[in-house]
Parts: sequence; C-alpha cells; structure tokens
Amino acid sequence: MAARAVAALAATVLFAVCGAVQAQGAPKKIDLADRIAKGQQIASQACAACHGADGNATGPANPKLAGQHADYLYKQLVNFVPKPGDKQAERVNAIMMGFASTLSDDDKRNVAAFYASQTKKPSAAKDKALVELGQQIYRGGIPGKQVPSCAGCHGPAGAGMPAQYPRLAGQWAEYTESQLVQFRGGQRMNSAQMTAISARLSDREIKAVADYVAGLR
Ligand code: HEC
Ligand code: HEC
Repeated sequence: MAARAVAALAATVLFAVCGAVQAQGAPKKIDLADRIAKGQQIASQACAACHGADGNATGPANPKLAGQHADYLYKQLVNFVPKPGDKQAERVNAIMMGFASTLSDDDKRNVAAFYASQTKKPSAAKDKALVELGQQIYRGGIPGKQVPSCAGCHGPAGAGMPAQYPRLAGQWAEYTESQLVQFRGGQRMNSAQMTAISARLSDREIKAVADYVAGLR
C-alpha cells in the first residue's frame, strides 16, 4: 500500500516536473504585430527626434534605421552597452550607449522589429568623380589589396541578408563613411570581418564606396 502511494507520488512529481520543463522549453508565442506596436511606442518617445518617426532620419548626422534587418538592429543595441565587467562597449558611441542602456532586452527586440517593418527612403550618390571607383570596389573589391567584394556579403543591390549582413543601400554616405573609419580606427569592434576589410581601405576608397552605396536601391 505504502509502496503504491510512493510510486503514485513519484509519478505525480515526475509529471509536474516534465510539465514545467515543457512549459519553459516551448517557445513563447510572440505576435510580430504586438512587437511592432510596442516598438513604435518606444521609437516615438525616445528615438524619433534623431532617427525620424519612421526611421528615416532627415539628415546625415543620424543613420537611417528604416528597413534595416531586425536582428542586426538588435545586435547593435546590445553592442552599444558595455558587457558586465567590461569598461568599453564593443561599439563605442556615447549617445547610443545612453539610449540603449535604458532599454530592456524585450524593448530592444521590439524597437528593432518596428524599424525593420518601415521602408527606407532612398539617397543618391553625389560625387561623380568618385562613384565609379566606389562601384568597382563594391562589386569587385580591390584584388591587389585583398579587399573582397562588398557585394559578396551585402548583396549586389546592398540589401544585405537578414540575420547575417546589414542592408547598406540608401544609407547616408556620411554615416557609411564614418562607420568604415570607426571599424578601421577601433571605435567599432563588433565585427572582425569589417575590421579586417576596413584596415585595407584608404580614405579615398572609403569615401568612394560610401558614396556608391548611398545610391543603391
Ligand atoms: C540624440 C540623437 C539620437 C537619439 C535620440 C537616438 N539615436 Fe540612435 N544613433 C544616433 C547616432 C548619432 C548614431 C550613429 C552612432 C555611430 O556613429 O556609431 C545612432 C545609431 C543607432 C543605431 C545603429 C544603426 C546602424 O546602422 O548600425 C541604432 C540601432 C540606433 N541608433 C537605435 C536607436 C534607438 C532604438 C533609439 C531610441 C531608443 C535611438 N537610437 C535614439 C543618434 C541618436
Ligand atoms: C565577409 C562578409 C563581408 C564583406 C565582404 C563586407 N562586409 Fe560589411 N559587414 C559585414 C558584417 C557581418 C557586418 C555587420 C557587423 C555588425 O555586426 O555590426 C557589416 C557591416 C558593415 C557596415 C555597417 C553598417 C551600418 O549600418 O552601420 C558597413 C558600412 C559595411 N559593412 C560596409 C562594407 C563595405 C563598403 C564592404 C566592401 C569594401 C563590406 N562591408 C564588405 C560583413 C561583410
């Protein structure tokens, strides 16, 4: 009798434990529309002044976020904040460290989903003399300097690839240029690939490829 009771109890406990594990392991169902709505609220309160209501920053001082891949945006928001125990963030920027620090992990995902759902407005290449060099570098790299083709990762039209490579098309040339300079100079250390590539680019090559990318759509 006692043995049976123990067995029954054990079965009940086992059942409860399995139930708990299953509930924890099963992915929480999150509605994308819900994420986007929550993200829009954060964006309109905290980010719109610089990045524009729909993620199309109105001037080159701030990057456009509209249409960028959500995983990439989320990663940047994580990278702007120093990891526990680290003095420096992987991507050093005082303004964005301040804003990203105020966001919970869920906030970061929500605001990333919102910007990804928006449409980027195009820019244009401005420097006719340089844009041809920029196109050469973008499409074919610089074989003599072991610079790979940008298109190889960021795509022929600069659309990138979700979860792996950011969209570059239509971004302000000034911002793209500043990022390549920051990868090269070590202020932005969140991509070993981009650190290695930018190290082999001259100022003029950086300007040229940044101008070309602005005109991609
Ligand atoms: C005071 C202006 C300002 C505000 C407000 C601001 N940002 Fe930024 N943000 C910037 C600047 C400037 C950069 C470029 C930083 C750099 O050079 O690395 C940037 C970069 C970013 C990037 C990286 C973009 C990329 O292509 O890699 C993300 C993501 C971002 N901001 C999200 C946000 C979010 C979300 C908010 C609101 C919670 C916000 N920002 C508020 C100025 C601002
Ligand atoms: C081997 C793949 C690869 C190649 C080739 C490559 N990139 Fe990248 N690039 C990346 C990855 C990955 C990131 C995202 C880094 C991160 O996580 O922040 C990136 C990020 C960038 C960014 C930052 C975008 C933003 O919104 O801040 C710029 C600008 C950029 N790349 C330009 C270029 C240019 C120009 C070339 C060609 C000279 C190039 N890349 C070649 C993989 C590559």
